[in-house]
Amino acid sequence: MRAADIPDDLTNVLVTEEEIDAKLAELARRVDADYAGKNLLLVGVLKGAVMVMADFARHLERHMEMDWMAVSSYGAGTKSSGVVQIRKDLDTDLHGRHVLIVEDIIDSGLTLSWLLENFEARGAESIEVLALLRKPDAAKVQIDCKYLGFDIPNEFVVGYGLDYAEKYRNLRDVAVLAPHVYS
Ligand code: XMP
Ligand code: MG
Repeated sequence: MRAADIPDDLTNVLVTEEEIDAKLAELARRVDADYAGKNLLLVGVLKGAVMVMADFARHLERHMEMDWMAVSSYGAGTKSSGVVQIRKDLDTDLHGRHVLIVEDIIDSGLTLSWLLENFEARGAESIEVLALLRKPDAAKVQIDCKYLGFDIPNEFVVGYGLDYAEKYRNLRDVAVLAPHVYS
């Protein structure tokens, strides 16, 4: 569905389907060039990164492998605490691999900072981050994100994989959730 199908649930659209597609194509050209001659392993972080992974991977003009990890971070309420638990681990041995982590959004950065340390400890040869969205004003730790889609304001967003209570993941655009939905 598109934002126009559920106008009452959203305040404004931040990034449209067309903008996402163009940006992922652009990032794919850079990744194609940067990883020429290397094996590439994309690691998607479930569940939010499902749409980014599906569309980004298909924009690549080269082979890649794909793996998935599911993590949850504990803390009060909806904020990430940085204490991360693995709910589904990788099937792939990272030793000597060129890993590109594919994420939906960098909010506090705590989840990614934990993942980066974890992957380094597993002996990956290189680790980079691709994230569709980033909230610069929410950062608690700085994440070196080599492939970034869009910086967005510090508001709760849904769509294109991002959910509120498991809803809105199938929205094609990224939009700000109307406060009445969660209050
Ligand atoms: P951080 O960077 O804070 O983010 O560790 C961890 C995870 O939280 C989710 N997240 C969001 N999900 N709208 C969402 O639907 C948001 O605005 C939002 N901000 C963070 C996301 O899964 C991220 O990977
Ligand atoms: Mg996520």
